[in-house]
Amino acid sequence: MVNKKKIFPIGIGTWKINYQDSKDIEALFHSYKLGQNYLSLYMLYEDGKIVKSLKSFIEKCGRENLFISVNIEPTINEKSDIEKQLNEYLNILNLDYVDNLQLHLPKFTKLTLLDTYFEMKRLQEAGKTRYLGISNCSLEQLKEINTNVKLDFFEGVYNLECKINESIGILDYCKKNGIKFVAYQPLRRNRTQLKNYDLLVELSQKYNKTQNQIILNWIMKEKKINVLIKSTNCDRIDENIKSLDFEMEENDYKRLNDFKNEEFENIKIDWDNVGDGISIDQLPNQF
Ligand SMILES: NC(=O)c1ccc[n+]([C@@H]2O[C@H](COP(=O)([O-])OP(=O)(O)OC[C@H]3O[C@@H](n4cnc5c(N)ncnc54)[C@H](OP(=O)(O)O)[C@@H]3O)[C@@H](O)[C@H]2O)c1
Repeated sequence: MVNKKKIFPIGIGTWKINYQDSKDIEALFHSYKLGQNYLSLYMLYEDGKIVKSLKSFIEKCGRENLFISVNIEPTINEKSDIEKQLNEYLNILNLDYVDNLQLHLPKFTKLTLLDTYFEMKRLQEAGKTRYLGISNCSLEQLKEINTNVKLDFFEGVYNLECKINESIGILDYCKKNGIKFVAYQPLRRNRTQLKNYDLLVELSQKYNKTQNQIILNWIMKEKKINVLIKSTNCDRIDENIKSLDFEMEENDYKRLNDFKNEEFENIKIDWDNVGDGISIDQLPNQF
């Protein structure tokens, strides 16, 4: 089993994996061989076809060598839907347990968040998941759950331009409460690099690294959080992993810490699903 502390800082993202192309699956073996042992799965993507396509990948890596995180998705109408969804992952992948079970978005449950997590806790106690996590909730929702049901993981957006989970206090709360923060869209699907911000261009030249390596190094080494990246291109997988191989000067980390894109700061987030603002998972896809 992969211990929480032995998770490689770069997880394997699965959004847009071409499940029909064996080359994409082969590229995931490349990631695995270089140490990437955290696999994040969503039944929502391509209607479960990506999850199904990863069964042989998991078997070949050896189930015990991977940390498998799965997401509960639309729609939980009643308690039993949670176990039904978890069982679907277990059956498709021929697993006895998953490593992390998390709700993808609070709006995916029609139960209260607490009732949802009390049921997830029951599944944890039954040995069907080792840990519990949450994705995309507000600080208040996170506190409410974690004071009643111990959480170990939080999956949320974090990158150079969108630091909302830091500004609303989630990063800090996670750190103080032993919750591992896993950042999705750390590269904003390569959009940040394409903007050629002066700071990134300068640091990229100074350290002789790509802009994406500068971003990833800063997130993992300075912010000390894990990232989830989708890449099925072996050169880019190498590039991303090599972002762990260097250090920057303290003042350069500070400049990256201070960097903000005001455009993202001004967008209203609809945390309570009342139709006022955008869903937090859509934030990194703006601009
Ligand atoms: N919980 C949530 O709500 C949530 C939301 C979004 C994402 N996620 C998870 O987080 C993962 C990561 O997010 P994401 O896939 O949306 O965004 P991302 O990892 O920031 O970007 C992925 C895209 O960037 C490309 N890429 C990867 N490394 C690159 C590099 N070094 N240089 C240039 N391009 C590079 C990939 O193409 P190639 O494959 O061709 O390299 C892919 O098109 C997802 O796959 C998913 O598992 C979760």
